Amino acid sequence: MNFNQQYAQYKQMVEQSLEALPFAGAPEKLRDAMRYSLLSGGKRLRGVLVLAACEAAGGSVQDALPFACAVEMIHAYSLIHDDLPSMDNDTLRRGKPTNHIVFGEGMAILAGDGLLSHAFEVMAAQTAPRAFSALGIMARAAGVSGMLAGQTLDITLEGTQPDKDTVRQIHLGKTAALLTAPVTAGFCLAGADDTQLLAGETYGRNLGLAFQIVDDLLDLEGDAALMGKTLGKDVEEGKITWPACVGVEQARKDAALCIEQAVHALDPLGKKAEFLQALAEDTLHRVQ
Ligand code: IPE
Ligand code: IPE
Ligand code: MG
Ligand code: MG
Ligand code: MG
Repeated sequence: MNFNQQYAQYKQMVEQSLEALPFAGAPEKLRDAMRYSLLSGGKRLRGVLVLAACEAAGGSVQDALPFACAVEMIHAYSLIHDDLPSMDNDTLRRGKPTNHIVFGEGMAILAGDGLLSHAFEVMAAQTAPRAFSALGIMARAAGVSGMLAGQTLDITLEGTQPDKDTVRQIHLGKTAALLTAPVTAGFCLAGADDTQLLAGETYGRNLGLAFQIVDDLLDLEGDAALMGKTLGKDVEEGKITWPACVGVEQARKDAALCIEQAVHALDPLGKKAEFLQALAEDTLHRVQ
């Protein structure tokens, strides 16, 4: 199986598991708003990373699937809230009107809350060895020292002239945290040792930094139809981005350097890391 086929297979597993989530007891309106954003497409990169990392470290996809669903729920919640008028004020996501445009702001907030808490319900129901540690990894990444720290800097520093250290802090929080956790949680579920966990962390951090630099570049020069969101918004809103700080050319070089570091971090895993390494290379050239 080549990289694209393997990615498609992992993605389909995530997609099917998400589709099957019952959200038992949720009022219909809430379930509709949650499912609207959760099942609206997307690359499923974070979910795929959990499955691929777990397999790379010798674990089973079955143990990893609930965590793949959980990270996609956390991600979907972060996007719903990120798009709110009080945050990035976006009306298009994954080629469709954003959650608050369809369901109203109140329901969009609740749909995000619902997805976040449901992610933890799903993880807490797991009895596989080390499931509780993997839950802790996800909680820290989504939480006050992870994604929320990055989002806080992102919105509070809007309109200011950024330095590289600050942009890096923002990217580490808002994006790299939720791209590192799937890798380390996947490794953890597979029973990886500390050296492997550290390698996974270096891989995820660099993948995440590159991913956000590329997102910033695509906001400037991407294809809006492929991206499924309104582009050019970062400049318009005075967002702090890597190209705004170092220029487009340097940003491209920096993203490539991060990917190189991500790839090398997994060299000690040998052939088992091939898919994760190819995924990192692919991120550099992504168009959506
Ligand atoms: C968008 O993430 C938010 C960022 C961190 C830039 P993705 O580009 O992974 O979004 P989907 O899930 O594929 O829609
Ligand atoms: C989003 O970063 C990060 C999170 C949602 C946590 P951006 O604001 O740059 O993402 P897009 O461009 O809206 O997808
Ligand atoms: Mg944002
Ligand atoms: Mg945004
Ligand atoms: Mg962006």
